Amino acid sequence: MLTGKRILLIIGGGISAYKSLDLIRKLRERGAAVTPVLTGAATEFVTSLSVAALSGSKVYGELFDLTAEAEMGHIQLSRSADLVVVAPATADLMAKMAHGLANDLASTLLLATDTPVLVAPAMNVRMWDHAATQRNIATLADDGVAFVGPNEGDMACGEFGPGRMAEPLEIVAAVEAKLSDGPLKGKRVLITSGPTHEPIDPVRYIANRSSGAQGTALANALSALGADVVFVTGPADVAPPSGVEVIAVQTAQQMLEAVQTALPADVAIFAAAVADWRVEGASDRKLKKTKDGLPTLTFAENPDILAHVSQLKTGRPALVVGFAAETNDVEANATAKLKRKGCDWIVANDVSPETGIMGGSENDVAIISQAGVEEWPRMSKDMVSRKLAQRIAEAIA
Ligand code: C5P
Repeated sequence: MLTGKRILLIIGGGISAYKSLDLIRKLRERGAAVTPVLTGAATEFVTSLSVAALSGSKVYGELFDLTAEAEMGHIQLSRSADLVVVAPATADLMAKMAHGLANDLASTLLLATDTPVLVAPAMNVRMWDHAATQRNIATLADDGVAFVGPNEGDMACGEFGPGRMAEPLEIVAAVEAKLSDGPLKGKRVLITSGPTHEPIDPVRYIANRSSGAQGTALANALSALGADVVFVTGPADVAPPSGVEVIAVQTAQQMLEAVQTALPADVAIFAAAVADWRVEGASDRKLKKTKDGLPTLTFAENPDILAHVSQLKTGRPALVVGFAAETNDVEANATAKLKRKGCDWIVANDVSPETGIMGGSENDVAIISQAGVEEWPRMSKDMVSRKLAQRIAEAIA
């Protein structure tokens, strides 16, 4: 619920602005008060009248609006909310934010605000992929701006790919997570998730079947309890969690570097399926078939990120959690892993094919710690995540 929460909603000029009308309804249904701001371009897609009717609020648009200035100055407006939401955030609006431009009301509010900002980008896939947009996103993420979406799919412009604005319910979930007064409020939680890709040459790599589902569910559950989540992910199948800081990597070495940069954290959870080996001296040219026979790949051991962080002498997170997917002697193997790696908990599960756990929606886990082994009954992966998040909150309270 968002009872009593005040949202300043900045609507940018993109076709997905129509979804923001539904977003206003959904936010208000949950008890939030929504103050809308339309950019000039947004009024080409939705009318002030519909936004005013749905929000039950005055709609702001002009920077030099004397009546608005007399009633509430733009600086005051920028600080009168618990959260500023930008949906849709166009490439242009994000570029202005990243560079500190303030040449209309929306960009001025974004520069003047001292409240957290959540951005739901929406644009053509090529605009999203453009190096300039990606640079701006990295700058904004560094500045502490949170993102929800974009999603991948068919676009209004007829192309396909990332760039669709997140659905209103996903944005609402991200808003709820940002405004949560849950037990993990103010705690920073680092999560690794997904597989890693280890290059053989520029077009080939070694990977594994991890989908990233468990790490993503866990990130959502922790974020819902109010944690500030940093999500370091390899190339996963599932969409990254909403409203958290996402750092995308490919290889185990990049994952270690991203983890080191993201520390310090109160809690670190290592749900990624990190490749144990990488190809030593991966070729920077595509390997060709030759008459001389097959290429020989030599492997080098990857850094063990969980063990590295568990054994940090300074700046070790208060709680370090690893995962262990085993096919036999689950408890014995996981208990040995707890000792070997030096982490505080291991979440162990049996991934033998007959359990149906791998790729399925349910999980059957045991939590292994110094205190012993605690078996949990079989339940959905979402439920496992919620229970685990609750347990983490109790442990570091
Ligand atoms: O040793 P094993 O791969 O079974 O350990 C699994 C746990 O260790 C997981 O939590 C995984 O994320 C972590 N791990 C890691 N870096 C590696 C290998 C595993 O962080 N190179």
